[in-house]
Amino acid sequence: MEVKDLEAAALLAIKEAKNPEELESLRVHYLGRKGALTGVLRSLGQLDPEVRRRVGQEANRAKAALEEALDQALQALKAAARRLAATAVDVTLPGRRSPRGRLHPLNQIMAEVCDIFLHLGFEAVEGPEVELDWYNFEALNLPPDHPARDMQDTFYFDDKVLLRTHTSPMQIRTMEKRRPPVRIIAPGKVYRRDSDITHSPMFHQVEGLLVDRGVTFADLKGVLTAFVHQMFGPEVGVRFRPSYFPFTEPSAEVDIECVICRGEGCRVCKTTGWLEVLGSGMVHPAVFEAVGYDPETYTGFAFGLGIERIAMLKYGIDDIRLFFDNDLRFLRQF
Ligand code: FA5
Repeated sequence: MEVKDLEAAALLAIKEAKNPEELESLRVHYLGRKGALTGVLRSLGQLDPEVRRRVGQEANRAKAALEEALDQALQALKAAARRLAATAVDVTLPGRRSPRGRLHPLNQIMAEVCDIFLHLGFEAVEGPEVELDWYNFEALNLPPDHPARDMQDTFYFDDKVLLRTHTSPMQIRTMEKRRPPVRIIAPGKVYRRDSDITHSPMFHQVEGLLVDRGVTFADLKGVLTAFVHQMFGPEVGVRFRPSYFPFTEPSAEVDIECVICRGEGCRVCKTTGWLEVLGSGMVHPAVFEAVGYDPETYTGFAFGLGIERIAMLKYGIDDIRLFFDNDLRFLRQF
């Protein structure tokens, strides 16, 4: 075969080579010790001097051209392999997770509290945060000039409309619509002009109301003791302390043994060994009269607990504002 044809065939094969191994076998085939072009160069001696010079020059030039082409093809293949490696997907790598959210600690406690009462047979109802004075105060036995209105400093829209200061209006709204027996809880947001490390202008309460024939203070104690033991553990001490609310008589605040010092007395419980968790009492006859229930026939108990307070006790948090700052370093701990 003519050197030119040899060269052309070799260049074509080099161009089509798909990997370094193929290039290497082409190099061996054309330029190796027993290669085709090497054969031409070896046989130069048998040619006439005239022809020898021409063929010799041609063969040397073709050799250089093939070496160059092989070299370039090898570089190009290597570069392509590098590009491929850089963009390749490693299917064995772990996937990228999108960050998962979680419930706010107050929502967690709210759900836990409601769950306990739902399992005791209570039904959850909801009502408006913008409320009428009648439901928030008057029907609850707090007439316009009643001094106990000051216990709950109120945000007013006008004389008659306000932001509810507690969930107790849901007692009235429920009893207006239903006849006994009534057994409800009413979770929700409430508002007061109140702000320090244990008081927030917006906070959450869960109201409870149970009305039927023959309900006694023993029922109140039984239900609330069961709640405290489920929430804080069966070993935690509970006490009922006389208190005053215009809409209950008698009234009691419920304290639990301090969860920090276990009743020994510390800074959190102000050395008393006890912490207040909720207000409660037997529904006042005046409240029954406001909703048209006969106080001679029916009795009942009601209670109202603060969710933030329970969360603070449960998690040992000493500043209520942490719940509302929305600092992820705080929220991620729950
Ligand atoms: C009441 O709101 C009564 N309605 C509770 C009640 C219902 C009594 C039914 C009897 C029968 P009090 O104002 O004490 O009561 O509030 C109840 C709870 O709400 C408190 O124990 C406390 O845990 C929480 N609380 C009150 N004010 C704030 C505030 N500014 N920030 C956070 N929690 C508060």
